[in-house]
Amino acid sequence: MRRRTTLATPPPSGTAVYPANVETLQALVNTEPGIFYAGQSPGDGLPVPLTLRHFGKTEDGGFGEAVMLGIFGQTRSGKSVLAAQLMAGFAVNQRMGLLVLDPQGEFGKDRLAAGDHRVDFSIKRLLGALVPPRVAMVTSTDDVALEGSEAFTEILRREGFFGTLGFKGHSKEREASERMASMLSDLTDADGKRRPIRDIRSADLPLLVKDLARFADVIYASRPGIAPGEGQRAQDVLARYQLDEVRLKRIWHESLTSFRTDNGRIALSDLIQRVLHDREVVVLSFSQEDSKSGVPYFLLNEILTRLRHVIHRNFQRGEGSNALIVLDEAHLFAGEHASESADGSRTRTMLAQSVRMTGKYGVGWFFITQTLHDFDKTILRQLQVKIFGQGFKVGADREYVQTELGPEGFARYCSLPDPKRTGRYTFMITGPIVSLGSLGTPLVLQGFRSGDDLVRANPHCFAAAVPADELRQPALEWA
Ligand SMILES: Nc1ncnc2c1ncn2[C@@H]1O[C@H](COP(=O)(O)OP(=O)(O)OP(=O)(O)O)[C@@H](O)[C@H]1O
Ligand SMILES: [Mg+2]
Repeated sequence: MRRRTTLATPPPSGTAVYPANVETLQALVNTEPGIFYAGQSPGDGLPVPLTLRHFGKTEDGGFGEAVMLGIFGQTRSGKSVLAAQLMAGFAVNQRMGLLVLDPQGEFGKDRLAAGDHRVDFSIKRLLGALVPPRVAMVTSTDDVALEGSEAFTEILRREGFFGTLGFKGHSKEREASERMASMLSDLTDADGKRRPIRDIRSADLPLLVKDLARFADVIYASRPGIAPGEGQRAQDVLARYQLDEVRLKRIWHESLTSFRTDNGRIALSDLIQRVLHDREVVVLSFSQEDSKSGVPYFLLNEILTRLRHVIHRNFQRGEGSNALIVLDEAHLFAGEHASESADGSRTRTMLAQSVRMTGKYGVGWFFITQTLHDFDKTILRQLQVKIFGQGFKVGADREYVQTELGPEGFARYCSLPDPKRTGRYTFMITGPIVSLGSLGTPLVLQGFRSGDDLVRANPHCFAAAVPADELRQPALEWA
């Protein structure tokens, strides 16, 4: 007799025990929503079922809440590959939107597709093989119009706008840029409606500079008794503006390009709405241009800000959300590196707050990261699902994994094969996506060797694989 129980104790002695086979395993779980096989059990090769449900009500086959996930592992431990497969698994839920934030442009270029010659985990193909198929919109921050005044003044700052006006040094530049951002947020049209950045006119510039000049007297603390705007600093800012007006105007106009929508760019809020409202799959790569001068913290800030706005707007219209946001290379934004600068720390804090806030509205997060012990603790604490790949057997990481997996689990973790030597990509998984086993026991999963294996293991989700010649198309064509 086969029966599924929630008992966490072994059966009484005398109970006959048989090794499971594929059929018994599937019979145990196949009535459950969200079953998805993303790999196999290393010992016996049985496909391992995971529960990848949407974040809606349990009556509708969902988790009943947004789930937060994290996948950890050193570089080339197979994180992105496994994450791509789990994304496909979540995408089986047609009512779910997916937003992939892709700082390295890896998913955007579909790099895990056959181009690498050794593996083929094309997300395009996996999504296309779903029944019914799903198509991802692939775009880059070059083709998206930013909206926030902070993002605008950050671009101005990077282009040397505030430095040219005499605000020297990072902190003065920052103060000037914050002041400008708040002035821009206050700009209104004739009806008193807030004017978006994309509608800023050239005529606004001299007025804004005048205000900035007044502000210079304040932050440089000119002699007491002198009204702001009448001090030496203000004069200096205005003189510098006169001197460099042509160049400053050019910087201003060029910076505005990233905000205009009349040049074919789609507004970031509209892109986010395609995920939250239209339940689409969107891959947003960060442009190389924006990453040139360090980690583009301001881009993630801008995305997080728009995300909050859109979630709130939808909520006020009585519309809940049901979406997963994937952040690859999350250590860049929530690791040690981020806390080394003021910009980075701000982003890290904002990300942690966003995770908490969006969760309440049905928007979950999936972090892909190389580091563990220095990853933001506020975020770590909010992750229900943790997936550990190769790389955390020593030091501060070790302690964390040990606590998470328990002594037995950790011993098992230490015995996992090294993927670089063995070509076997193994992970330990804890949390609500583990569908079999007693609560809290970590699951060992060895990744499939190709997208085709994944498709074959999940006939209830995929149609037969798309013919191989279709995948020879250049990846960019799938936009
Ligand atoms: N399941 C798998 N089967 C076969 N090969 C794999 C598998 N997973 C990963 N690989 C191989 O390992 C390489 C690195 O994998 P992946 O890009 O997922 O690593 P990563 O952990 O995301 O690394 P990084 O942190 O540098 O982004 C892949 O390009 C592929 O060659
Ligand atoms: Mg990766």
